[in-house]
Amino acid sequence: MSQARYEQQGEIAVITMDNPPVNGLGFELRRGIVEGLQRARDDDSVKAVVITGGGRAFSGGADIREFNTPKALAEPSLHTVIREIEASAKPVVAAVHSIAMGGGLELALGCHFRVASSGAQIALPEVKLGLLPGAGGTQRLPRVVPLEIALNMIVSGEPVKSEKFKGTRLFDEIVEGDVLPAALAFARKALAEGRGLPKVRDLKVDYKGAEGYLQFARNTVGAVARNFPAPARCVDAVAAAVALPFEEGLKAEREGFLALVQTPESRALRHSFFGERAASKIPDVPEDTPLRKIESAAVIGAGTMGGGIAMNFANAGIPVTVLEVNEEALNRGIGIIRRNYENSAKKGRLKPEDVEKRMALIRPTMSYGDIGNADIVIEAVFEDMPVKEKVFRQLDEVMKPGAILASNTSTLDVNRIAAFTKRPQDVIGTHFFSPANVMRLLEIVRGEKTAKDVLATTLKLASRIRKLGVVSGVCDGFIGNRMIEQYSRQAGYMLEEGASPQQVDRAIEKFGFAMGPFRMSDLAGNDVGWYIRKRRYVERPDMKYPKVADKICELGRYGQKTGAGFYKYAPGKRDAIPDPVVDELIAAHRKELGITPRKLSDDEIVHRLLFALANEGAKILDEGIALRASDIDMIYLTGYGFPLHRGGPMLYADMYGLYNMVNRMKEFAQAAARTPNGDPGAWEPAPLLLKLVAEGKGFTG
Ligand SMILES: NC(=O)c1ccc[n+]([C@@H]2O[C@H](COP(=O)([O-])OP(=O)(O)OC[C@H]3O[C@@H](n4cnc5c(N)ncnc54)[C@H](O)[C@@H]3O)[C@@H](O)[C@H]2O)c1
Repeated sequence: MSQARYEQQGEIAVITMDNPPVNGLGFELRRGIVEGLQRARDDDSVKAVVITGGGRAFSGGADIREFNTPKALAEPSLHTVIREIEASAKPVVAAVHSIAMGGGLELALGCHFRVASSGAQIALPEVKLGLLPGAGGTQRLPRVVPLEIALNMIVSGEPVKSEKFKGTRLFDEIVEGDVLPAALAFARKALAEGRGLPKVRDLKVDYKGAEGYLQFARNTVGAVARNFPAPARCVDAVAAAVALPFEEGLKAEREGFLALVQTPESRALRHSFFGERAASKIPDVPEDTPLRKIESAAVIGAGTMGGGIAMNFANAGIPVTVLEVNEEALNRGIGIIRRNYENSAKKGRLKPEDVEKRMALIRPTMSYGDIGNADIVIEAVFEDMPVKEKVFRQLDEVMKPGAILASNTSTLDVNRIAAFTKRPQDVIGTHFFSPANVMRLLEIVRGEKTAKDVLATTLKLASRIRKLGVVSGVCDGFIGNRMIEQYSRQAGYMLEEGASPQQVDRAIEKFGFAMGPFRMSDLAGNDVGWYIRKRRYVERPDMKYPKVADKICELGRYGQKTGAGFYKYAPGKRDAIPDPVVDELIAAHRKELGITPRKLSDDEIVHRLLFALANEGAKILDEGIALRASDIDMIYLTGYGFPLHRGGPMLYADMYGLYNMVNRMKEFAQAAARTPNGDPGAWEPAPLLLKLVAEGKGFTG
């Protein structure tokens, strides 16, 4: 069936785009529009055409389901559709409502007239995927709206409400209410008045001193876009609209588009765009799985994490009861929450009255009797199995049947925690990241017995509280921390071999990470990792560790909170200052191991850190702990400060080439074998990695 409905109202043909949810301009729809235009052309009783969108949008642009398929490029392309519209001997009116974005807006710009309902979202968002509008958007928009507005829209990708375009040539009419009757009336009027077939392409960009303005724009964009090439290319394309005849401008736009599609930055943005959408799809959990109702919540523990988690619920309007062991801890926790809200209000990010509204949703208690009715309870007490056991046994006693019992544990076995209850099917891990009210990632840990509807409900809850939920199976450290452990080990080995903490941090920060491993560790508290390592030394005596971090901790240098760690800190300040004491400690440690320090290049530092992540990621994929490589990347992009323009460790490995990666790993292994305390075994390629190399494939498909 065609995705473009055709009907006639008097002497006007109406083509209605019909490709839910947002009339993405996929192949069938494009073909349907062209067929509709031909039918109108061949019918003498038709004098004009109106194109509109059925359902919730005029059109949201390209059909993302078609990306990377031959259909995306199949004719009629959007260019062809627009050319057919422009060439029509009968006027074509776009009836725009709700959403006209990307290709949808470009289609409308190809029409002879445009009528819009007010409140419609108008945008060219391609830049958000590292691209530029490729179907004439950069050439036509500056011809109908002021140059600055067009440029801002193209460079930012942000939507603008249709009524803001009053008085511009973008819309001939902006109406309240239903747009179709208005567009039909407009078409009749245009016919009666003989308004002909005006084309946007025939207009000139009207701006005196455009060159100066564009130069200014180039400078500004260069500074803001930093790692992304698309915004500057957008400016170039708009400059072409100013300086060149229309067809030549289109050519410049096309060249810009083709150049951008090839960039790793655009690939990274598209990967993240699709990765985000894929994360909520769980192969064995149908999309229509009935969800449990979540109208109230409880949090156990009002410490660093519990407080932030409670704020997430209050921010989403979900009442939450916070339980603590004693009054002092309770008051302290609630006090911190209030201070956080008040600070946001001071910075203008929250209305003063909302501080009280949110605080009113948070109910402090010390009694389990007050939480039994909550639909979900999240435990965030000390990371200690006996404490977790006590709490979960109590929760099993008091929580109503069907309540979800979640643990915020970052390392402990969720299956064991579930076994403390008589309802393991209701138990799940919800691993928030610190600060829990800020960080977007929520690692959702699916236990062996976790019920499907519990998983589906928790994923849905993640988006309600504005998190990105990514599912992990049960293993030590889950996805994110299990990988970061290998990254930290390499960071530590590099200190033993000859690098300084600041050199390692600087190299990976230059690559784009928000913070290098040692500054990060100082921020999080070096004792946290130490505690985990001490457990490892007992549980996994086979695993080798570099030892500088332990020696730093033995001196009580836990990081920022103690004023010293891998760096030193001035009182009350967070700036990491290189510390000669640390250099001496490392030098003495090397001597003890019999290591002659060597110079490590930034390239070696960066790739040892990245490949340590990706190789562990491959094992995690192989074991089914992660469902897909993009899930791993989403965890790193949203929870670990991995630079967005690099796309995540798995995509980075793919772009580097897995074959090249394995060869690099062999070099690293040989060097490790020559180093006292080195661990060549760390570079044993994961079986999946070797398999993909043999098949000439990548992680990310
Ligand atoms: N801090 C992080 O960066 C981080 C990140 C992710 C996950 N986690 C996990 O979150 C959990 C909490 O960590 P945190 O950093 O918030 O610790 P925290 O020490 O700041 O807070 C723990 C709170 O739990 C309270 N508590 C202890 N036993 C209790 C009990 N039986 N009943 C009620 N309250 C009790 C304590 O009084 C304290 O206020 C741990 O499992 C930790 O591994 C922490």
